[in-house]
Amino acid sequence: MSTTTAELSHVFPTGTRVNVRGHLEIGGCDVLELVREFGTPAYIVAEDDLRARARSFLEELGARHRDFDVLFASKAFPCTAVCRVLAEEGLSCDVASGGELALALRGGFDAQRIYFHGNAKSTAELSEALQAGVGHVVLDSPHDAERLKGVASALGMRQEVLLRVTPGVAGDTHAAISTGQANSKFGFSFDDARAMIEVLRDDEALALVGLHFHIGSQLFELEPFRAAVRVLAALGEFPVYNLGGGLAAAYTATQHPPSVAEYVDALVSTAHAELGSDKRLLLEPGRALIANSTVTAYTVETVKRNVATWVAVDGGMSDNLRPMLYGAVYEALLAERPLTAGTVRCHVAGKHCESGDVLVRDVQLPDPAPGDVLVTPATGAYGYALANNYNGVPRAPVIFCRDGDARVVVRRETYHDLMARDVEG
Ligand code: LLP
Repeated sequence: MSTTTAELSHVFPTGTRVNVRGHLEIGGCDVLELVREFGTPAYIVAEDDLRARARSFLEELGARHRDFDVLFASKAFPCTAVCRVLAEEGLSCDVASGGELALALRGGFDAQRIYFHGNAKSTAELSEALQAGVGHVVLDSPHDAERLKGVASALGMRQEVLLRVTPGVAGDTHAAISTGQANSKFGFSFDDARAMIEVLRDDEALALVGLHFHIGSQLFELEPFRAAVRVLAALGEFPVYNLGGGLAAAYTATQHPPSVAEYVDALVSTAHAELGSDKRLLLEPGRALIANSTVTAYTVETVKRNVATWVAVDGGMSDNLRPMLYGAVYEALLAERPLTAGTVRCHVAGKHCESGDVLVRDVQLPDPAPGDVLVTPATGAYGYALANNYNGVPRAPVIFCRDGDARVVVRRETYHDLMARDVEG
């Protein structure tokens, strides 16, 4: 038996299949073998899928517009090896802290191609960014601008900046990840942006070269993006427009977000109509670039039946906080028999000490038992990023798979790591 993703849902990385042994195979690697070698829980990344998605953003944008760049929103998977792959594919990078900047530089991004974001950047972070030679800083408030001015003047530099505008456009998504609405903590309101544009005219320390928006994340509708472009157009003409990230990814078989082509088409056609076709256009995807490249593998530890059937695994809210923070929905299957029809309706629970630690609700699994390897797909975006040590659980490793070869790019944490910052024993 050899089958392809066609029988698995489209949320798995491209190239995922069921191999001759009937096991789930990611990036040419049998998931059960990966688990034997590297343990669970583990983030398993199909490197080719990630590379292909990066190329598709570049190709779709390049096919429609001359002067462009694609930035990896590194907050989605802030890891040196991921940065390295995406830098190799020719992307630029969005960072939102000194730590993300350090990872991006280490991952091989050219400092000139890094965009430094954040609504509460510190003086230390700004001076690290300028000293590293970051190409652009994205201003988020008048205080941010003033602070950056001080840092740039002290270093005797003139820094290119973009202005983050809050367009007053809300996409349909979870409130915690909606950022374009008027009462957002991010960016300049339209009126404040207009005032800041005046303040920065001919400024000696800061060179305002363009505008930015990011209206939210996991957006299925394209109209809010178009509306945001129209708002930016009303603020005058600039050489650079950064249209943010936000395109939704599919987490379950029933979700069908717009394709990269449809998304890029909507943005570019609106930009051409509203801003002109001679501007530099930047996109900043995180989730749509990386969510579906990755699955998480767990071991089932216990199965308990009360009112419901609880399948408890060896990870949970320490490796995937998204179900708890945003009510995010995931699929689950068993790596040893991925195509066997589910017989038992279950909740997949984590190992953490609270009732909210449930990874997947109401999933049909084929007679799950302790020792089974359970896989949740589409965990590449904001999984590793939001990982934590709740209950003293060491964080999971990141394994890259490609053409049947697997390599650990981030090792599993150890108990020693948990104590590594202790000053007194
Ligand atoms: N650009 C900026 C300025 C952003 O703040 C973000 C995400 C992105 C780009 C990338 O957005 P994406 O393409 O990934 O939607 N932890 C949440 C998501 C927070 C998104 C934060 N900003 C989650 O797990 O859903």
